[in-house]
Amino acid sequence: MGLPRRPARAAARAGLSGAPPSGAVADVDRLRADFERLARVECATRSPLSAAICRAVARDSATLALAMRAPSAQRRPTLLLAAIHDLLLAGAEHPLAAHVPTVAGGRTPSGRAGELALDFCAAHRRQLAAILSTRGTQTNEVNRVAALLPALAVATPPGAPLRLVELGASAGLNLLADRYEVRYDQAGGASFAVHGPRTPHHPPVVCSCAVRGTLPRDMPMPAIASRIGVDLAPIDVRDPQAVRWLLACTWPDEPDRITRLRAAIAVARVHPPTVVQGDGPRLLAELVGPDGGQHPVIWHSWVLAYGTPSEQRLLATAIDEIGRRRDVTWIYLEQHSETPGLPTPVVAAHDPADSALVAVTYRRGARTVQRLADAHPHARHMRWLASRQGEAQDLADR
Ligand SMILES: C[S@@+](CC[C@H](N)C(=O)[O-])C[C@H]1O[C@@H](n2cnc3c(N)ncnc32)[C@H](O)[C@@H]1O
Repeated sequence: MGLPRRPARAAARAGLSGAPPSGAVADVDRLRADFERLARVECATRSPLSAAICRAVARDSATLALAMRAPSAQRRPTLLLAAIHDLLLAGAEHPLAAHVPTVAGGRTPSGRAGELALDFCAAHRRQLAAILSTRGTQTNEVNRVAALLPALAVATPPGAPLRLVELGASAGLNLLADRYEVRYDQAGGASFAVHGPRTPHHPPVVCSCAVRGTLPRDMPMPAIASRIGVDLAPIDVRDPQAVRWLLACTWPDEPDRITRLRAAIAVARVHPPTVVQGDGPRLLAELVGPDGGQHPVIWHSWVLAYGTPSEQRLLATAIDEIGRRRDVTWIYLEQHSETPGLPTPVVAAHDPADSALVAVTYRRGARTVQRLADAHPHARHMRWLASRQGEAQDLADR
């Protein structure tokens, strides 16, 4: 699979795929439309600051020209937003800082954030160009653990020591799922939490998810005996610049995400997860390792959406191949519309903005696929579906 890129269909919707661009003007117009769209759609409710910056950039040809310095595969509004945030986190002094919660430090905002961002870009053009031409956005969404835990509870053999293998693990923060606390708020006020051991002297990592449907209440922390991740561009949590970039790629005015990410990074520095560099599907068999008494769980979230359908089918075939020889569990949280090559069961009614949480279990050569839930891409909410079992299918028949 190639370098991370915008999911193909989302790119098509945003007008970023199809016929090659006819020229620089078309490219700038397309980028301008991307800034306008990001302000209007994704940022509108989640990040007023990013929305204000995007609206200002869309109107300013000098800043758009700066954003064009990114190679075409990485040219997107979020990269400029991250580059600005990164320089501010590194200590760049500018009145814009007072508008940015991660660096404001009690300063009183003045002026308009959008106009100040344009001024910031003009004043830091050289540094921003260097970031834009060399970096790609990179995230690790810790709250997705809220989807992983119930999937582990219902799909893995009870009490079995697990080997967690994460494809596209980024900084590996979700490999430490059993060290976090997850709060589930169910309709009707039935809330409960599960948590693993706290890391002394560090704030807890708290994930939360609003649930529709009835989650299994018996959700013990999984017994993760070993864990390993793989990523095309892993983030080393001990590298301050890499960690700063991970924070920079998170919108500064989403305080719950920033707090959780910072807390998870602190825990990961005490218990560093192993994340090897490489192509996940290609290294899969090696990462799963020999049958050493641990039950392998292959997990990925928002990774395969960046590959092509044939790459997704290749992964499914590779996991089927493992499942013919031994019991294994495959869990994923991916956008159904972006991953037609995965075996996600179709459900009658679902919110297309939600991702599908799917468990594929391989037991004695038979494969069962279940769509467990539909979840917000960051697992802020989840509609739990899994009351009935899917049909087991003998892999010998496939
Ligand atoms: C959107 S991030 C999600 C990271 C993490 N899974 C999470 O849920 O927070 C996608 C990650 O997948 C990685 N990635 C994409 N394709 C990959 C591949 N073929 N092999 C390994 N990593 C891949 C990217 O480098 C990036 O770190």
